[in-house]
Amino acid sequence: MTYRIAPSILSADFARLGDEVRRVIAAGADWIHFDVMDNHYVPNLTIGHSVAQSLKKHTQRADGSHALLDVHLMVQPVDALAERFAEAGADLISFHPDASTHVDRTLQLIRATGCKSGLAFNPAEPLDVLEWVIDKVDLVLIMSVNPGFGGQSFIESSLRKIEQARRVIDASGRDIRLEVDGGIKVDNIRRVADAGADTFVAGSAIFGQPDYRAVIDAMRAELAQQSQLEAAA
Ligand code: DX5
Ligand code: ZN
Repeated sequence: MTYRIAPSILSADFARLGDEVRRVIAAGADWIHFDVMDNHYVPNLTIGHSVAQSLKKHTQRADGSHALLDVHLMVQPVDALAERFAEAGADLISFHPDASTHVDRTLQLIRATGCKSGLAFNPAEPLDVLEWVIDKVDLVLIMSVNPGFGGQSFIESSLRKIEQARRVIDASGRDIRLEVDGGIKVDNIRRVADAGADTFVAGSAIFGQPDYRAVIDAMRAELAQQSQLEAAA
């Protein structure tokens, strides 16, 4: 399993976002998670596509590769903004199915831009829609907090949702990443991986500490350990 760590810049210093992105990439971030909130779908307001466009050049690594720009849209409606973010340089664009009137159309629209498409599921939302559109999905994003704010506590029932999503993805035989967002810390990342997640968003856990590398290294050390399930077998 190739695990990915995706720091959420929601908890970064917004006055110096370029520096923050470069610093967290130098500290070992795989993806940059970019939370877009519209004060309509969620009760908070963050940043738009022009900020994504300005940050894109800061996602470059020293070796010439770049950290993927993982845009999480918490907006309604979705389609027009998804296109703006694709133009701004997003690599992946996720949205919430209940924020789009025509989920299949939105997925097609994102993929037509050349971006990978993601569907995000709130804690109380079932995965039902996934069955009907799985051929157009590159990423499933399980919310382990209610979207809108950083620094909330991990909701335990999302572990069962992750397990269910893992079964659906494996049954599809498709190459789909399973990302978890909300309340991920060094002390729970292993359990979340055991449930089947392969990509971990962490905002406050990383940007709330002075040494980003220490947190990311500690997360990777947890992920490198033998699974708790295997250890119990
Ligand atoms: C919540 C956002 C998350 C948030 C995670 O609405 O989608 O990406 O930044 O923050 P932490 O890791 O602090 O829960
Ligand atoms: Zn997010």
